[in-house]
Amino acid sequence: MTKLQNYFEKFDPLHIGTLPQRSYFIPFQKEEAEEFKKDRKHSSQYIDLDGTWKFSYQPNIRTVDVEDWLNDSEKFEGDLKVPSVWQMNGYDQPQYTNVRYPIPYDPPYVPYENPGGIYRRTFTVGKTKENYYLNFEGVDACFYVYLNGEFVGFSQISHAQHEFDVTSFLKEGENELVVFVLKWCTATYFEDQDKFRTSGIFRDVYLLKRPKEHLTDYVFKEDVNVSEKKAAVKLEFKKTNPELPVKVTFLDGEGQKLFEEEITENSLEFNLKDIHLWSAEDPYLYQLYLETPEETFYKKVGFRTIEIKDRVFLFNGEPIKLHGVNHHDSDPKTGPVIDREDFLRDLKIMKDHNINVIRTAHYPKAPLFYEMCNELGFYVVSEADIETHGVVDLYGKGRNANYNMIADDPIYQEVILDRVAASMIPFLNETSIFMWSMGNESGYGVNFEKGLELAREIDDSRLLHYEAAFYADPNKEHDYSNLDVHSRMYPTFKEIEDYFEDYDKPYMLCEYAHAMGNSPGDILDYDYYFQKEPSFMGVFIWEWTDHALDFGDGKLLYGGDSGERYHDGNFCVDGLVSPNRDIKSGLLEFRQVYRPLRLLETDRNKNRLLMKNMLGFLDAKDSIHVAYAIYDQEKAVKEGQLDLPEIKPGEEVWVGFPELEELNAETGYVHFDYYKDSMGEEVFCGMDSYVPEEFAWVLKDFAETSASSKLEYEETETEYQVQTDRLSFAIGKHTGMLHQLADKKGGFLEKAADLVVFRAPTDNDRKIKLEWEEAGVFDYETRVYTSSVKEEENSLSFTFEMALLPVYREKIVSLTLTWTIKREEELSCFMHVEKNPYVPSLPRFGVRFPLKTSFDEVRYFGYGPYENYQDKHQASRLGSYEQTIQELYENYLQPQEHGERSFCNLVEVEDKTHRLRAQADHDFGFNFSLYSIEELREKKHSYELTENDSHDLIIDYKQAGIGSNSCGPELSEQYCISERNWEWGFTVSFPSEK
Ligand code: GAL
Ligand code: MG
Repeated sequence: MTKLQNYFEKFDPLHIGTLPQRSYFIPFQKEEAEEFKKDRKHSSQYIDLDGTWKFSYQPNIRTVDVEDWLNDSEKFEGDLKVPSVWQMNGYDQPQYTNVRYPIPYDPPYVPYENPGGIYRRTFTVGKTKENYYLNFEGVDACFYVYLNGEFVGFSQISHAQHEFDVTSFLKEGENELVVFVLKWCTATYFEDQDKFRTSGIFRDVYLLKRPKEHLTDYVFKEDVNVSEKKAAVKLEFKKTNPELPVKVTFLDGEGQKLFEEEITENSLEFNLKDIHLWSAEDPYLYQLYLETPEETFYKKVGFRTIEIKDRVFLFNGEPIKLHGVNHHDSDPKTGPVIDREDFLRDLKIMKDHNINVIRTAHYPKAPLFYEMCNELGFYVVSEADIETHGVVDLYGKGRNANYNMIADDPIYQEVILDRVAASMIPFLNETSIFMWSMGNESGYGVNFEKGLELAREIDDSRLLHYEAAFYADPNKEHDYSNLDVHSRMYPTFKEIEDYFEDYDKPYMLCEYAHAMGNSPGDILDYDYYFQKEPSFMGVFIWEWTDHALDFGDGKLLYGGDSGERYHDGNFCVDGLVSPNRDIKSGLLEFRQVYRPLRLLETDRNKNRLLMKNMLGFLDAKDSIHVAYAIYDQEKAVKEGQLDLPEIKPGEEVWVGFPELEELNAETGYVHFDYYKDSMGEEVFCGMDSYVPEEFAWVLKDFAETSASSKLEYEETETEYQVQTDRLSFAIGKHTGMLHQLADKKGGFLEKAADLVVFRAPTDNDRKIKLEWEEAGVFDYETRVYTSSVKEEENSLSFTFEMALLPVYREKIVSLTLTWTIKREEELSCFMHVEKNPYVPSLPRFGVRFPLKTSFDEVRYFGYGPYENYQDKHQASRLGSYEQTIQELYENYLQPQEHGERSFCNLVEVEDKTHRLRAQADHDFGFNFSLYSIEELREKKHSYELTENDSHDLIIDYKQAGIGSNSCGPELSEQYCISERNWEWGFTVSFPSEK
């Protein structure tokens, strides 16, 4: 039996038979240029090996006889589409783990049971003089290549380019390629990124057919003088034959020829005047053609400068702000297999939502991605495929004390250097990349010091980043000189403040505002420091998309749902968009905070607006269009367009707005909507509103009643009952709560109302939830100590001294609560609440009315139209909104609190025959969901939810804020409900206009 050579448990060699890394390119024939630009597969030199391969899954590759598989093509039991991962195609199972390694920690060894996939396909070549190069753009985790029965090579690094010269293995006619892909290998210890662990040939595979004499590499370098609009271009070539002539043609974006020369030297320099700079806002690209006697190359390149001056990051000389996301390759149907359409869809949504920077967390992308970013305009932080986070889980509670055990152990140095180089060299010509990241969460030490040195040597024109330098052993001397920025993830606000007390490098948050579930709530709080500090260069939300898998039935599965033994549950469901790219409210918050224009101040004396252009390069006049609407209560009284004057990037300008005259300052407000171009389409990109200080909540008239008869009540053992001409009320004597409400057409309530101090915990509540449980916040009884009745002309009041009490614990709150029935038609609720100071800050405090399910429409005056909370309401604003209960639902994969509307003073729900209105002369929140809190709390997936048999309207004194504590800092005190006591109330009425 011939086994695979055991390279997969060695650190040396890391690769066998691979060619040195080179810049990414696909050569083509000159006449193919136009077709090639549409799709690289249109080059006749590109022999596509994607498609259906024969496949066999082996539970343990160690027991496989290689010869058998090389000789017997009949042995393969199935077909597999390439690129793909086998776990999404019926073999093995995906596993989601975050920090923990999926295998025992035992480098360089991996488990004895090491699954593998054997891939086979044929291709035909005619009689040929050319050389053939086999390219893999991504294989997880390592692979052995055989051509026509002979061993070609071995390679690893899942997210990397691998190229083999297969010329000498080829024969005329049919050729047989067999690839053994292994699930585990030494690479596993270096690829511990937080994601579903999957395996296979997951990116494109192709052969390049190339002439004997050819260009093996070229690098485009630029030296730009921004103020003089000049650039010096330097091209460097590597060739099989030093004499090989290269014709260089340089054109502008429109095709105007700017330079042309044929050379045989290995480098060339030329100068350009009047250059048009590249930026994410204006991604202008020039065109470079290289021609050798038998091949052509094409690359779009841009001119820009990247520098740090006085601790401030400058792009093209401007102190721009980077606001964006961490992007994983993730799709519910294919896992990490992403094609052009997938990228395009993500990038378009990003553009629409004011994202200008992407960190390729936590590995390099396929080449196509960078080309799209060059063209569409995104700044890119490109990260090496390195993460050794699992070491922090070793030796019991070692945590950060273990962090540097790989980073600082020279045994692993070659691996780190290999990965740094492989992440950079292919992409040196990509304009969008302005920063290289050495990887993620791998600690710090000599290997990263060397890695950074190497990175600087490979490319000294871009910035270098590595967050985990933060975890360096404080007892050792370290070299941080090649780190250009101080990067952190999820710091507290205090930590940010402290940093700026004394610092030497620009600051960035490579991760912040963890977007898990209903989140993040704190983008604006971070933005305060981001705008304030010129050296605070960038913020990157964790993360772009929820990861979950759909095996065809539409059910979205996360960790543990595939039967994994060790997993991290729904910690992978933490994106701004859902797995199917539905936009979550967190993304709307982001869009709003990073809108290109901001209204800073409204001057009513002079009828003018102070507007700030937040862009880095474009004038607001040319790039943003503003629509306004002046409202008086619910109605727009005037609408129009605002003519923006020139507002240069970063400038603040007073803009005349004479229409402001028409605003009624006591009852009115103004909305401004911003629109911009996003990849050729005009899109809404943010808004502002102006609500005058004098603005006062207006109460709707209560129904006029002619009856002035005295209100009567009856008392039973359990209830007070009141009957008016139109309505009947029952209030529980031992609950202090409304038991029923009815008019002639029937009752409103499905069940009795109650006081609620809990919510279905959000992912961000996952820590405080334990304290809430401990304090009995989810399970308590109501105790009424005394009740009394007060009869007045035209009103009746029922007052209760009461408390909410969990079993075996002390009370959560005690309160005096009064229901008053007035004018026959109106029911008000007023209370004085004392919170037990020993109980943690509460999730909420509100009154829940379980209405009949026929109530399914809601109208409100307050913050809308999106779900909003104390600290998550940037995308919403004051107005009058009408929505159905279905529209208020937000589908979080792991069910949780959703759909709150805050800062309201009126809410009306209605069915075909009744209407119920709650209002107050102060603001309150409300929630109206298809699902009960209990159901949301219990179920693990949204597809398991069963609709409630009542539609619960909860009128909230408050709900706690949202924050981002699933990974970020604790919820700020200002958004907690920890006050000792409060007085609060609202009035319910039953308008009869229906
Ligand atoms: C960070 C890490 C990310 C992700 C995130 C939690 O620490 O860099 O990869 O795990 O936490 O979702
Ligand atoms: Mg990690």
